[in-house]
Amino acid sequence: MKISFDTAGSVKNGALAVFVSQGALQSSAIQTLDTTTGGQASRALRSSRFNGEAGQVLEILAPAGMEASRLVLVGLGNAAKTGMLELEKAGGTVYARLAASGETALTLDATSLEGVGVAADEAAARLALGALLRSYRFDRYRTKEPANKKPSLESLTVQTGDPQAAQRVYERLAAVAEGVFFTRDLVSEPGNVIYPKSFAERAQSLTELGVKVEVLGEAQLRELGFGALLGVSQGSANEPQVVIMEYDGTNGEGDAAPVVFVGKGVTFDTGGISIKPAAGMEGMKWDMGGAGAVVGAMRAIAARKAKCRVVGLCGMVENMPSGTAQRPGDVVTSYNGQTIEVINTDAEGRLVLCDVMAYAQDRYKPKVMVDLATLTGAMVISLGHEYAGMFSNDDTLAAQLDAAGKASGDKLWRFPLGEAYDKLINTPGADMKNVGPREAGSITAAQFLKRFVKDGVSWAHLDVAGTVWSDKDGALWEKGATGYGVRLLDQFIADNYEAK
Ligand code: BES
Ligand code: MN
Ligand code: ZN
Repeated sequence: MKISFDTAGSVKNGALAVFVSQGALQSSAIQTLDTTTGGQASRALRSSRFNGEAGQVLEILAPAGMEASRLVLVGLGNAAKTGMLELEKAGGTVYARLAASGETALTLDATSLEGVGVAADEAAARLALGALLRSYRFDRYRTKEPANKKPSLESLTVQTGDPQAAQRVYERLAAVAEGVFFTRDLVSEPGNVIYPKSFAERAQSLTELGVKVEVLGEAQLRELGFGALLGVSQGSANEPQVVIMEYDGTNGEGDAAPVVFVGKGVTFDTGGISIKPAAGMEGMKWDMGGAGAVVGAMRAIAARKAKCRVVGLCGMVENMPSGTAQRPGDVVTSYNGQTIEVINTDAEGRLVLCDVMAYAQDRYKPKVMVDLATLTGAMVISLGHEYAGMFSNDDTLAAQLDAAGKASGDKLWRFPLGEAYDKLINTPGADMKNVGPREAGSITAAQFLKRFVKDGVSWAHLDVAGTVWSDKDGALWEKGATGYGVRLLDQFIADNYEAK
């Protein structure tokens, strides 16, 4: 879909969307429409239950006195509470409503925003971003979709006072959206298409944006001593990979210590010998959602030429049961020499992450490290699909991430860590075991990771098990991969680690 900005003017074809805040049914925008349509807008409002609530849409076909084929009133909710995310959602909502309507052109009248406390350029850009994010669909393997079910919209125009200024704001946002789409593609692809090597190949494309991409293969990982990661991978015919992406937008003038992001990249999680039940197992293709978010975030950060130094590392494996698979009870030695008794081969994410995290700290000496992982089913039970769980050894970092979550819409909810939880993974057979008891499953998983964080490193673990995939359409995504984490990490960097 082609997205552009223009000054206000009468719409010659396609649909025109006008925004209405809650209860503002006599706004000057509506009055203007009434003048043009001979009162049709107000009559339509009186015949419906539309009152400007967020998410509401009222369509008037063939409006009188207008060349537009359709007039669409879009509810914004309380004007005083309408911020950037609410505008994105409004843009996404109107896009979704008209996507397959048969209309090819849609114009959003951003000059109709009344009483909204967001600068006009930013508001126009956010409406466009919302529509852009909502327009993503993963339809690569749909070969028989009827033409009348496919999206028809080809162009989106946002009318605003200063189109050039809005365009400038939009370009930065669209760069981040490209990162979100990159992640959604990776997460949507099935396990026979995205496996460690093909994931690494796709990540290589970031070199075009000035990211240095390095891939460690099995031989190197063995030499380096990634015993925990290799134990997970040994049952699979697919070679494991660690993908390392280095981005430096500071011309070498930045802080020597980079921010490090680490992603869990299990391209398919059968559970291994501790095999998962059949029902729903297909969902475990998205067990690389943490790694997918790290690549997408690196892409977003590089695409908008952020003035910062960031390194992203993804531990990529496939967790399979086979004659070569690791057994429950096996003891493995991690990169930093700690031994782990593998009680349950389905608790594989922490085994992958611990080696990559230990290596990342050894090699890059970061001050800050954030890992993202679809780590525990217990997290989905705790928070559902609204928030991802956050665990951190540093209140300042936790507050920064929380703020980035609120600003980006990728929301976080903090969980506790503590000595009493840590004890639950002690075992006589090794330094630790890879699972605790059933209770507090997300916390003991985080405690396991914490044993691989060096003193002095600010660390946060984000358990994104409930947020990388959605079974339902949202305002900013069609059901499927959400791209969760990309906007969060980008915002976190922009707010805290970028030279302004
Ligand atoms: N990838 C899963 C976690 C998961 C489950 C994410 C369901 C999304 C939805 C992870 O590798 C796993 O299997 N965790 C186990 C840990 C358990 C064996 C301690 C779990 O949560 O059941
Ligand atoms: Mn598992
Ligand atoms: Zn897993």
